[in-house]
Amino acid sequence: METVNTKSKQNNKHESVHPRQQSNEHEFVHPQQTRNFSIIAHVDHGKSTLADRFIEHCNGLQAREMRDQVLDSMDIEQERGITIKAQTVALRYQARDGQCYRFNLIDTPGHVDFGYEVSRSLLACEGALLVVDASQGVQAQSIANCYQAINRGLEVLPVLNKMDLPAADPQRVREDIEDIIGISATNAVSVSAKTGQGVHDLLEAIIRIIPPPQVQHDQEVRVLVVDSWFDSYVGVVLLVRVMSGCLRPGMKLLAVATAAVHTIDQVGIFTPRQTVCARLEAGQVGYIIAGIRKIKEVQVGDTLTDALHPTSNPLPGYETIKPRVFAGFFPVNAGDYKTLRRALEKLSLNDASLFFEAESSQALGYGFRCGFLGLLHMEIIQERLEREYEINLLVTAPTVTYRVKDKQAQMIDVHNPSIMPNSNEIDEIAEPMMRALIISPRDYVGSIIGLCMEKRGQQENIYYTQNHVNMEFLLPLGEVVFDFFDQLKSLTQGYASFDYSLAGYRPAQMVKLDILLNGERVDSLASIIHRDNARSIGLALVDKMKTLVPRQMYDVAIQAAVGSRIIARANVKALRKDVTAKCYGGDVTRKRKLLESQKAGKKRMKKVGKIEVPQSAFLAILKAKSSFGS
Ligand code: GTP
Repeated sequence: METVNTKSKQNNKHESVHPRQQSNEHEFVHPQQTRNFSIIAHVDHGKSTLADRFIEHCNGLQAREMRDQVLDSMDIEQERGITIKAQTVALRYQARDGQCYRFNLIDTPGHVDFGYEVSRSLLACEGALLVVDASQGVQAQSIANCYQAINRGLEVLPVLNKMDLPAADPQRVREDIEDIIGISATNAVSVSAKTGQGVHDLLEAIIRIIPPPQVQHDQEVRVLVVDSWFDSYVGVVLLVRVMSGCLRPGMKLLAVATAAVHTIDQVGIFTPRQTVCARLEAGQVGYIIAGIRKIKEVQVGDTLTDALHPTSNPLPGYETIKPRVFAGFFPVNAGDYKTLRRALEKLSLNDASLFFEAESSQALGYGFRCGFLGLLHMEIIQERLEREYEINLLVTAPTVTYRVKDKQAQMIDVHNPSIMPNSNEIDEIAEPMMRALIISPRDYVGSIIGLCMEKRGQQENIYYTQNHVNMEFLLPLGEVVFDFFDQLKSLTQGYASFDYSLAGYRPAQMVKLDILLNGERVDSLASIIHRDNARSIGLALVDKMKTLVPRQMYDVAIQAAVGSRIIARANVKALRKDVTAKCYGGDVTRKRKLLESQKAGKKRMKKVGKIEVPQSAFLAILKAKSSFGS
């Protein structure tokens, strides 16, 4: 994980309403002159950079206000160069035909953890720009995101980006788009988001190819809540797409799912500056401020309607997103527990997919079991807790949710290995599955199949295109969310791409692997693994732990056990590491410095019984699992 030493400012998704709001009171945009579209792509194919060029071209921001990937407003997004939250911007474009158009553009994240942001954004649009890096060609997420758009009835306009690169091969990429995705590339526009080449033609193509919103006026009010976030000045800000009707300040809005009623204080658009409007018409994407204090009062995906004349026909909305990966977050200093709770509450205000509940561990004390969409999501939350709230955390090995049927036929969802019932109380365990799509050059087929088999995968489909091979596998989610992608990348020298979707549960022979330190089971070091791999993982884990647990004043016995059966053991010999041993003579300052740095090194250790255990030991299971599959 990257280390960052600057303390981040609090994330505000868009610039705060105060003091820079602008007024756009009189502008009315006809639906025929409106285009609502998302930019979708595989990670790093250039969505955010293309959005920058659109903003520049349409004078959304002045030159001095522009910076790279301007819509990625969080510090972490800028530092990592990735989009985490979908962002919206309303642009005014003077077309070659002399008419003025409103483009409502949604820049979506490319990483698979944040795929739900893509599906949400698509429901607010009539079209999607499928950006494909012309030097790399079609990748797994280009396909997955494109199918999402097609399934929602959107018009897809292919864009071949990075044409300035010498390796750009637009002809091959056109063939790929037709061959692999199966859509026509006749309308594809070649651009360089970096130099701006072709961007003007693309803006014109958007007008021609993406249909305007179909709206009937004087209809009942139906508004889709696309996203929401908390602003410390005005409370909750709702990002909405008005499907029918018109919104004005003073109007009472009913949220269909929660039955909450709020009066609109302000409506507006992001240009990308927050800009107040007199009304939001059908077909537009914009924001509402309505004195909402809690994010849960209005759910993302819900329909808002006129409280005095409510619709009887709410919009279909979104699937609720459920976390897929869980880990224990424990403060290293017990005194930070309350700060951690407050920080998690605050972060969850803007992140509906972040789950947390109090957890107590015999070994680590009080903390929280947190749920995430994937490992990147987990890393980002951990980093934000450490940077923005200055909490030193100890994080346990992440796990997926297993479905356990006990002998009384009761179902329990287990997302914490320490609460797994004893094997004699269990009737059946089922593990979550996922369907993976892997695209790679043909040379690597053998290695990829080998890797997926090692991960207990089942090959479902394979087909060859002119340049690539596409493979589909059914794989246990627990095998894939941790480091499968890294392994796939290194096996294929970075050429393979990967996307996945959830595919239900399947019974599996899972067991709980316990770690004992000097004979005592350490609850927070337990993990759930496949029975067939228990011995090899147990051995690898004990071996790894032996190198991680520092020598103490006495011998430490490390054991791995399944139930009452010990399957591996090792000893860490007693020895106090004397860091000052080499400082003979009277150099007191140097001695003190060394002792201080030793103390700092211990910060991320936790006393488990009498034994100091470092953070790395809690994550050692990931390494042990990846070398054997679980
Ligand atoms: P995610 O938000 O992480 O999915 O990435 P993205 O698709 O938004 O890509 P982004 O715009 O962040 O660009 C990724 C990298 O490609 C950056 O280093 C850009 O500078 C670079 N890039 C984008 N467009 C072009 C282009 O037309 N030519 C060249 N040479 N580089 C480009």
